[in-house]
Amino acid sequence: MTEIVCGKNIMSDVKAALEGCAFTVTDNNIAALYPEFAADAFVIKAGESSKTPDTLLSILDEMSRRGLRRSDRIAALGGGVVGDITGFAAAVYMRGIKWTSIPTSLLAMVDSGIGGKTAVDFNGVKNLIGAFHEPTKAVVCTEFLTTLPDREWKCGTGELIKTCLLSEKAYCLLKNSLSGLLEKDKDCVYSLVEECLKIKSDVVNKDPKENGLRKILNIGHTVGHALESLDGYKLSHGEYVLKGMMTEFAMCKDSIDKKFLGEIMPVLKMFAVPPKTTAKAVCEKARSDKKNKDERIALVIPVSPSDTKEVYLTASQFTECYERAVKELKS
Ligand code: GLY
Repeated sequence: MTEIVCGKNIMSDVKAALEGCAFTVTDNNIAALYPEFAADAFVIKAGESSKTPDTLLSILDEMSRRGLRRSDRIAALGGGVVGDITGFAAAVYMRGIKWTSIPTSLLAMVDSGIGGKTAVDFNGVKNLIGAFHEPTKAVVCTEFLTTLPDREWKCGTGELIKTCLLSEKAYCLLKNSLSGLLEKDKDCVYSLVEECLKIKSDVVNKDPKENGLRKILNIGHTVGHALESLDGYKLSHGEYVLKGMMTEFAMCKDSIDKKFLGEIMPVLKMFAVPPKTTAKAVCEKARSDKKNKDERIALVIPVSPSDTKEVYLTASQFTECYERAVKELKS
């Protein structure tokens, strides 16, 4: 279980957490923006292209050169890529050491920075090599968001909206916070991040290795992942999740509470446009999704705030529903 400290401006906690770690990994963007935290850090190039076995080995090489021991703790100061690769380094160094997650992007604050899914990409497949290794501590300071680029905001917004569909309280908060979220209002974003952290940690504590309940965090991800991979990762992950959610919800509209669907679709359309990718291509990709069962494609659908359902479609049902859904979304 991860100890989570969350605050609007808790840079002193960030400093203290880093001082408690023997080694910090960050990226060149964060090192340039926050040099006070990166003086002795190992700096990787920002972006998904760094999430490779080579970068992992360079981190492990540096840890061993600096003589890190099993009792030492390391820190990940950055967004999703830094967290995923640093967490994985912590998972495998001396068969596992402690690590502290200090997420600096909205995506990492509401999703990847806690939960212990650590990985690198391999052979063109995202997160192909990885381990479940939860951070011992997470320090979530939303002040970091003041320097977040627009593209990263959109990315985090996708996962934030997804998480807010998982509880009545978070969903109400989201509905009442839409203008604040669009305007990046600090108090409003903080409340949303705090609520998402509660939901995510509750789910992860109940099902750390995704044997069941944790699958609810995959809303929008079947179509989202397929679009992301077919598109060559041109947009941010969260934007594909937004497209994935609107398409999957339209595909399974009969399973969703009408009032809820009527409210959530306009919200999704505020942040993303429907996909242009063909049904055939998306279906072909979705057929290799790890959630599938008996040759049927799995979609996780929120039927109402706080209640989800897994829907399984054959390839021909998927193609038919996708084509209809995209047509309706564009009309
Ligand atoms: N991002 C989904 C999960 O952590 O399970």
